[in-house]
Amino acid sequence: FSSTPVWSSSSCPSGPPAFAFDIDGVLIRGKHVLPEALEAVRKLTHPDGHWRYPVVFMTNGGGVCEARKAQQLSEWLGVRVEADQVILSHTPMRDLVPELAQRPVLVSGRGDVLNVARSYGLQRVLHTRQLGRAMPAATPFSTYPPEEQDAATGGSASSTAAAPPPSAAAPSLAAVGPHPSSAGASSTGIPGSELGSRSGSGSESGSGRFCPVRDLGLATEAAPIDTVLVMTDPDDWYRDAQLICDVLTGAGVATRSAGAAAASGAPPVKLVFSNPDLLWANEFPKNRFGQGAFAHMTLSLFARLTGGARPHHVTFYGKPNPQPYRLAERLLLAQARRLGLTPPQVAPESGSESGSRSGSGSAVLPFSGIFAVGDNPAADVRGANQAGPPWVSVLVRTGVFQGPGPNCDVDTARVAVDDVAAAVEAAMHHS
Ligand code: G3P
Ligand code: MG
Repeated sequence: FSSTPVWSSSSCPSGPPAFAFDIDGVLIRGKHVLPEALEAVRKLTHPDGHWRYPVVFMTNGGGVCEARKAQQLSEWLGVRVEADQVILSHTPMRDLVPELAQRPVLVSGRGDVLNVARSYGLQRVLHTRQLGRAMPAATPFSTYPPEEQDAATGGSASSTAAAPPPSAAAPSLAAVGPHPSSAGASSTGIPGSELGSRSGSGSESGSGRFCPVRDLGLATEAAPIDTVLVMTDPDDWYRDAQLICDVLTGAGVATRSAGAAAASGAPPVKLVFSNPDLLWANEFPKNRFGQGAFAHMTLSLFARLTGGARPHHVTFYGKPNPQPYRLAERLLLAQARRLGLTPPQVAPESGSESGSRSGSGSAVLPFSGIFAVGDNPAADVRGANQAGPPWVSVLVRTGVFQGPGPNCDVDTARVAVDDVAAAVEAAMHHS
């Protein structure tokens, strides 16, 4: 890389610089904090440790609440980071809560996503681990530690941990039907489909009769799961791909069969992924599959099951999609006002977190640039470029980007430098 940045010709309004730092591959690699990250923080803070400019941390990772990630970042970087400086892959999903608060929602993902979803206001949320544990025969290749062990290991899906009281109106879940007989599948009639509808009476499975689903009190045949939120990379791709496909095809627990759904006029199940990353960078020397790889696998399996169909409603959050960038703009603006760096009359962005700018459309963001420092061309470079001025994409080579190749957008990065400290230097020089 040349250390001389190549600035875009796009004009940026005058004003202070602001920064949006990616985390994996920019500040850390797995469990290791990159030394350049500490140098970058030194450049961006006053001697008393306060931030000189507005700064947010935008990651396609998650699995904890924003306050916990802020605490981790504070410990890693030796500077105080507040919760409203942190945008996780699932943070913009808070925008979905008014619509989903009382609906049975299935969540997938490692970490504490069940409690994160509850903290956002979802009242009837079920984790795939709970669903799988309630009906082990549905995912025979997965294992389910005892609930108390799960809870002890911080497993987030303990149905007893702060679970909201099951709604009295929700009847216990009926048995989901006879165990698939070994008599072979009969076609569902969908041409080319491999979706076998198991007919025939229930048969003794190896471990006894097919157990009825325990009352999880959160979803019923009458009020089936109608939204699936993949909030972080799952810890059991097989289990979650299987259960998500069950929900999408109406062949699983607490779901209405596809036919019944169509007959009832119920809307199709919505599937939301929080992160499209095919690859990401941890401490291993080669990039690793991310949630985008899981999405690809799950959607490919759904297509195989349904003769090539794609679920009716699939939405992707996470960089490069607009939701985190619009939310970042609002958070940076609030910080600029707190730091006294922005004329008070600049109104906060009124746009929702779902990715739309305020009603005026061309909201003025009083920054000389929002320097988005990232390591993944397909997420961080593309996202900042698509977000438009004053966003400035800055690519570093301490993570996913390891040189030109099929996944590389380096030629569209506005700035290409070696690491995050050089990125801050270049941004300060430009501002
Ligand atoms: O799972 C996290 C990974 O997909 C990328 O994280 O911080 O580089 O956006 P980040
Ligand atoms: Mg990254």
